[in-house]
Amino acid sequence: MVQLPGDKSIAHRATLLSLLCEGPVTLTNIPASADVSSTLGAVAALGVDVARTGDRARLARRGDVADDVVVDCGNAGTLARLLFGLLAGLGRSATLVGDASLSARPMRRATAPVARLLGEDIVTLSSMGTLPARLRRRTATSLATDTLALDVPSAQVKSAALLCALSVGDVVLVEPRATRDHTERLLSSLGVDVDVAPLPGGGARVTQRRPARLPGFTLALPGDPSSAAFLLGRAAAVPGARAVVDDVVLSPRRDGFLRALVAAGVDVDVTPRGERGGETVGSVAVRGAALRGIDLPAHDVPDLVDEIPLLAALLATASGPSRLRGLRELRVKESDRLAATAALVRAFGGNIVIEGDDLVVAGGLRPGGDHVFVAVALDHRLEMTARVLGRILGRDVRTDGEGCEAVSFPGFVPLLDGVERAL
Ligand code: S3P
Repeated sequence: MVQLPGDKSIAHRATLLSLLCEGPVTLTNIPASADVSSTLGAVAALGVDVARTGDRARLARRGDVADDVVVDCGNAGTLARLLFGLLAGLGRSATLVGDASLSARPMRRATAPVARLLGEDIVTLSSMGTLPARLRRRTATSLATDTLALDVPSAQVKSAALLCALSVGDVVLVEPRATRDHTERLLSSLGVDVDVAPLPGGGARVTQRRPARLPGFTLALPGDPSSAAFLLGRAAAVPGARAVVDDVVLSPRRDGFLRALVAAGVDVDVTPRGERGGETVGSVAVRGAALRGIDLPAHDVPDLVDEIPLLAALLATASGPSRLRGLRELRVKESDRLAATAALVRAFGGNIVIEGDDLVVAGGLRPGGDHVFVAVALDHRLEMTARVLGRILGRDVRTDGEGCEAVSFPGFVPLLDGVERAL
């Protein structure tokens, strides 16, 4: 049974809420990931006392959130996008900067809905719509609209709007496709009136009432299913092999990878064991199989958006072809993950093509072969995908991104070694 680092998405949200909560926020099982360290650094810069020991931190706001601070978001897109909304709602000015990868990623997708909510555009981005960003104080005293249709299926964009509205007024957001709902679940667990209703065609309507106050809270962060996927995926491609992870988030908005494994013929056993921070938490056991090809519909993609490179790599070893549909969002991740995934599979000799926004994977890749070099563009999920596929095919892998998995999953290699030994 593998103990996982805490979920990165929930860690970002819980840490950022310390800027709004009246009492202290105490978190345990904080992942030692670079992204979450960026978020802890951001709230510290904005006026929260951060007392961190190991994987535990107590976050206590000293007073009002600071104005006119420069916040370094590092590599963390979730931090940058959620912070736009949260600071805009609070009416703070700030400057947001990031590393080279984050500074190439689109930010208008998050700032535009916030501008529509407030009825004024308070963010100046680079001419490319990227960081660095200058955020001015809002002058609006209420929301310009109480209903907003979002055009990008992105939990980061949705959460930016929710965190903005939290300090200003009641809001209804309509998503084209339901995306991860950790913000809604965490807020709901703190007593905020927030409701998610499914819409025909796979969308969702989120209704949130502005709370009078937000209490402090204590949360043991549940394990990250997107990290777990790399360990479970290693066993999934070996007939009869077993891997188990415990205390992991079991949200239906995060279990798309497990559903895809089942479609590919893998035996997946999920056991809910409790609830924390509004999330169902439990264990997942996988028994590997000779994989068969799958057809992944576009509306499933948000539920496994970070696991697509790994899934494509696994399916390259399947007995038949696969099509993964509607992957447009992968082009704007830490790298262009559509192109990078295709390049990765090809580096191993696999046959994969990009057709529009789809990946078509031929399958049939078999163990054996010489060492292989993979260019991962410093993308942590590509780096881990290359390692897992190398193990499955028994090939020695070199990359140009060794160690960059620490962005989301420090300690990944020893845990993968543990799964390997137990196969
Ligand atoms: C995240 C949402 C996803 C995901 C990212 C984390 C979040 O991005 O890729 O790693 O915490 O909200 P999008 O919602 O923009 O697709």
